[in-house]
Amino acid sequence: MSVIATTVLGLVISSMGITSVRGSTPLVRSYEGSSFFDRWTYYGTYDNTTNGDVIFANNSVASNDKLTYITDSNTAIIRTDNFTTVPYNEKRNSIKITSQDSYDVGSVWVLDAVHLPYGCSVWPAFWSVGKGATWPGEGEIDTFEGVNMGWSNQMALHTEDGCSITSTSSFSGTVNDTSCYAYDNDNSGCGVTDTNYKSYGAEFASAGGGVFVTQLAESGISIWFFSRADIPDDISSASDSIDTTNLGTPSAFYSNDGCDIDKFFGPQSLVFDITLCGDWAGQSSILSTTGCPALSGSDTCYTTYVLNATNYDTAYFEINSLKVYSNGSSSGNSSSSSTSSSLPTIARSNGSWSAGILGLMVGLVGVATII
Ligand SMILES: *[C@@H]1O[C@H](CO)[C@@H](O)[C@H](O)[C@H]1NC(C)=O
Ligand SMILES: *[C@@H]1O[C@H](CO)[C@@H](O)[C@H](O)[C@H]1NC(C)=O
Ligand SMILES: *[C@@H]1O[C@H](CO)[C@@H](O)[C@H](O)[C@H]1NC(C)=O
Ligand SMILES: *[C@@H]1O[C@H](CO)[C@@H](O)[C@H](O)[C@H]1NC(C)=O
Ligand SMILES: *[C@@H]1O[C@H](CO)[C@@H](O)[C@H](O)[C@H]1NC(C)=O
Ligand SMILES: *[C@@H]1O[C@H](CO)[C@@H](O)[C@H](O)[C@H]1NC(C)=O
Ligand SMILES: *[C@@H]1O[C@H](CO)[C@@H](O)[C@H](O)[C@H]1NC(C)=O
Ligand SMILES: *[C@@H]1O[C@H](CO)[C@@H](O)[C@H](O)[C@H]1NC(C)=O
Repeated sequence: MSVIATTVLGLVISSMGITSVRGSTPLVRSYEGSSFFDRWTYYGTYDNTTNGDVIFANNSVASNDKLTYITDSNTAIIRTDNFTTVPYNEKRNSIKITSQDSYDVGSVWVLDAVHLPYGCSVWPAFWSVGKGATWPGEGEIDTFEGVNMGWSNQMALHTEDGCSITSTSSFSGTVNDTSCYAYDNDNSGCGVTDTNYKSYGAEFASAGGGVFVTQLAESGISIWFFSRADIPDDISSASDSIDTTNLGTPSAFYSNDGCDIDKFFGPQSLVFDITLCGDWAGQSSILSTTGCPALSGSDTCYTTYVLNATNYDTAYFEINSLKVYSNGSSSGNSSSSSTSSSLPTIARSNGSWSAGILGLMVGLVGVATII
């Protein structure tokens, strides 16, 4: 990086300092509309992580089969194939995509969706995972996860040993397990179940969807859910920055008191996936407690559901936007990110600057492109 570029960076950083509002975090990227799918990697192989009965399609299958696409109303669809009769012993196509950018401690991501995948055998999630280390070295945050027909969202962290929920007084959800260590509790992490049934399934959709806010801060990790009618102004008006101070009691809060956030979490890549059956959704006892019939006789989740396309009409995400706000660096998918200095580079990724601070860079754009 040249001296002149460093000077320009300095100016930008100091102007950020002057204009930034106490308590707020600047917008660094918005995934929405026609560019929603531009910066994601498609998994492109079978689900070897949760033993689900799917192949996570590659980019070309996903676009040819319209498993991921933008609607006429500018929403993004991520779906399981609901038009193929799958031959016995083969798997159904579905989607897992991972963001090419990752976001460090000091970030907030806001998912605004009108529909989440559900249905018997369906197991969707919107989550994040540390990019740079062997799992669970840099932590995993499950913002949204549901199975089958209900009943509400289940959040969780998965970490190395030493991170746990120590106090339950500051959030509204119901704790399933306090230890976040990835290999405790049958690998289920420190789960917290939302008490609001509108956070998943048919109730989420009939309420017009809603917003999930995930805050990865040094003081702790917070997850809020707001049904469409309850979305506060601090979220709907958060166009350049977000202030989470007055969002109220979160559904889940993992305090730094029980979990050293800087130690257990690194820059997070964001992930959407929909699997079918597998280790959680596919168990007979789970099916029968989440709104679906228990499996009968020698039937499996696979033979009961996966072969028949008509089971998957509701197995899709429909997303208005995914916005990321960040104080810190975000590591991008290009060699240029390795040139990041100790400057607090804000959302520099893939060698380009985020839309969030472009406004501040009017007049500097020509120089910035040289950086
Ligand atoms: C970003 O920095 C501001 C100002 O220091 C702070 O109030 C805010 O909580 C930070 N955001 C996050 C997500 O840590
Ligand atoms: C799953 O398959 C991918 C692609 O072949 C591979 O990179 C990854 O390590 C596998 N993961 C597991 C948990 O086996
Ligand atoms: C995508 O997946 C399909 C189905 O497995 C395969 O035929 C095709 O070669 C893959 N395309 C690329 C570009 O990998
Ligand atoms: C990085 O970006 C390139 C081009 O967009 C893409 O082909 C590649 O899969 C990405 N790599 C990762 C690890 O996301
Ligand atoms: C978590 O707790 C909720 C509420 O008590 C319960 O309905 C749900 O089945 C539990 N989830 C798991 C995975 O045990
Ligand atoms: C798929 O399920 C529907 C609804 O239960 C049923 O009407 C249809 O016959 C099934 N199709 C196959 C190929 O089994
Ligand atoms: C798949 O589901 C969508 C709704 O999610 C529906 O509009 C479409 O008709 C279904 N496709 C088939 C082939 O039934
Ligand atoms: C950088 O991002 C642009 C726009 O998303 C993309 O076209 C390009 O392939 C990316 N370059 C690399 C090296 O990832």
